[in-house]
Amino acid sequence: MLQTTATLIARTTSGPAQELTLHAPELARALAPGQAVLVKTGWGLEPYLRRTFYPVAIDDETWALRVPPGGDWGHAWLRAAPLGTQVDCLGPVGVGFLVPLGVRNVLCVGVGEPAWTLMPAVAQTEARGLSVALALEARTPRELIPTQRLPAAVEYHAITADGRRIEGQWAELLSGAASGSRPGLLGWADVVVAAAPLTFYGHLAAAVRAVRYEISRGFTQVLYPTSFLCGTGACHACVADVAGGRRRVCLRGPVFDLADVVT
Ligand code: FES
Repeated sequence: MLQTTATLIARTTSGPAQELTLHAPELARALAPGQAVLVKTGWGLEPYLRRTFYPVAIDDETWALRVPPGGDWGHAWLRAAPLGTQVDCLGPVGVGFLVPLGVRNVLCVGVGEPAWTLMPAVAQTEARGLSVALALEARTPRELIPTQRLPAAVEYHAITADGRRIEGQWAELLSGAASGSRPGLLGWADVVVAAAPLTFYGHLAAAVRAVRYEISRGFTQVLYPTSFLCGTGACHACVADVAGGRRRVCLRGPVFDLADVVT
């Protein structure tokens, strides 16, 4: 884990959120998709607690975080920080997504705000020449990841409520049409990576069982979306019921096998 000073070099508006690009070559090169960074959102000793961010872009010299709308004062400090601000960062935290060698088809599944954390995984797997499908759910079309943010070769499937039941749309997309006329993405994928609220993982597990009859280890990796205080295993603030017991997510996760997150 590195403690490093990053320089805020760009700010863009992305729907209701802001995206900040931070120049920190050493940290950027150490980051894997799905790992977290703890950012000190203030000058001096305040605020004492850092804010947790999962990068939405990673390259050789920079990484980007997304500041969601809301009233958090640490986020407000970041929204107002001028370009050139030096930002204290601690990371990478934990274990990220790992797409093993030999895989050809990668399915990325995201819901809501956590879905943005899949962006580095999408970019890196596509850059390896793998086939990537991205299936996303958002409340409204405006909250979806815009297609122009994705590599052209990515197969994009977007789900919003738009009068149809979300569960039915997911079932058809993942498991295939009930008529059998169209196969589902779970039958196509060699590996699945997912970032969503915890409640969604139960539905994902049911879909995996329906298609593959069991949740085999190594097939589905999921991001356990949580915030960290220390990020080093010292404070126990991130303890959760995962992987068969009470575990520190900052050490064992935040990316887990689906079998460790659902029972
Ligand atoms: S954040 Fe402190 S133990 Fe995990």
